[in-house]
Amino acid sequence: MIAIEADKLTKIYRVYRKREGLFASVAGLFHREFKEVHAVQEVSFRIDQGEMVAFLGPNGAGKTTTLKLLSGLIFPTAGSATVLGHIPWEREDSYRRRFSLVMGQKNQLWWDLPAQESFQLHKEIYRIDPADFRRRVDELTDLLQVRDLVGQPVRELSLGERMRMELIAALLHRPDVLLLDEPTIGLDVISQRRVQDFLRYYQGQQKLTVLLTSHYMKDVEALCKRAVIINEGEIKHDGPLEEIVDRFSTHKVVELQFAQAEIPADLADFGEVFDEKPPRVKLKVLRAQVPEVLSALLSRYAIEDVSVSDRPLEEVIAEMFVATKDAETEMSGTVGSVP
Ligand SMILES: Nc1ncnc2c1ncn2[C@@H]1O[C@H](COP(=O)(O)OP(=O)(O)O)[C@@H](O)[C@H]1O
Ligand SMILES: [Mg+2]
Repeated sequence: MIAIEADKLTKIYRVYRKREGLFASVAGLFHREFKEVHAVQEVSFRIDQGEMVAFLGPNGAGKTTTLKLLSGLIFPTAGSATVLGHIPWEREDSYRRRFSLVMGQKNQLWWDLPAQESFQLHKEIYRIDPADFRRRVDELTDLLQVRDLVGQPVRELSLGERMRMELIAALLHRPDVLLLDEPTIGLDVISQRRVQDFLRYYQGQQKLTVLLTSHYMKDVEALCKRAVIINEGEIKHDGPLEEIVDRFSTHKVVELQFAQAEIPADLADFGEVFDEKPPRVKLKVLRAQVPEVLSALLSRYAIEDVSVSDRPLEEVIAEMFVATKDAETEMSGTVGSVP
């Protein structure tokens, strides 16, 4: 069963372009100039019920706009979408009860009130049965380890605690679809882990459909098997997470710890030295050359410890965009040089 379907979904914002100078601003009264921002361009994808998909891309790529469209907060310029059979921007009450949107950079809870008061409000809004409500609050506050904090004004909580309360509020009415926009942004490592662990457990248990945007590849690697990558409003990749790694991760990170304090000068022959903290050093080595590089190094030097790991996914994805940018620049360069 398909839970979320976007078909050539497009959102163009018209932003007023401010003109310089007095004359221009007077002229602007009569003749307004607009600039078009193509935030989302013909975006298409399908997400099955119970899938947890990462939605990745650099800042300004169109992620939040897509999630706002799927939540019915804004209307598309063109294209269509259905979530659980509903057209989001028709804003039917029956749809509202079946999804939740959580934005890491926005508060949905009442700042001055304890979280439990906001929960109570959700109970009324969504007409949640009192017994169900109690059970869910208990379960969720236990899972997220914030049970003894629900009576404290939200503004007194740490960012991580607040975010966990936001998640609880979003899940009280048992939505089938959860749209998460940077739920771990700015969180400390421990809170980030708690949120990850919770999402993994709860999603599996409830068979939630989740679309997750995050800057943190740790979230993605921990939670998602599939990634949709967006850049400049367009989908650039949709497939298994490993595929991105395979396709773009041509190198491995070899970390060495030498027995002596100084690091040999000829390491650059084996790979790119990118992190040097004697006696430890990290080398970026072509994946295919890792075995021979390792045996050469081990026979030549006294090495106390060695590890081989994949490069961080965020680095790989960042490179992917640089690669497409370069290709575009090259192409336009070629066109430009035609006499
Ligand atoms: N309300 C808005 N008005 C005008 N432009 C907007 C608005 N919201 C977003 N944009 C622009 O649309 C593009 C996509 O933004 P957004 O969806 O927030 O990206 P992301 O969440 O991937 O960082 C950006 O260029 C952004 O500046
Ligand atoms: Mg965003």
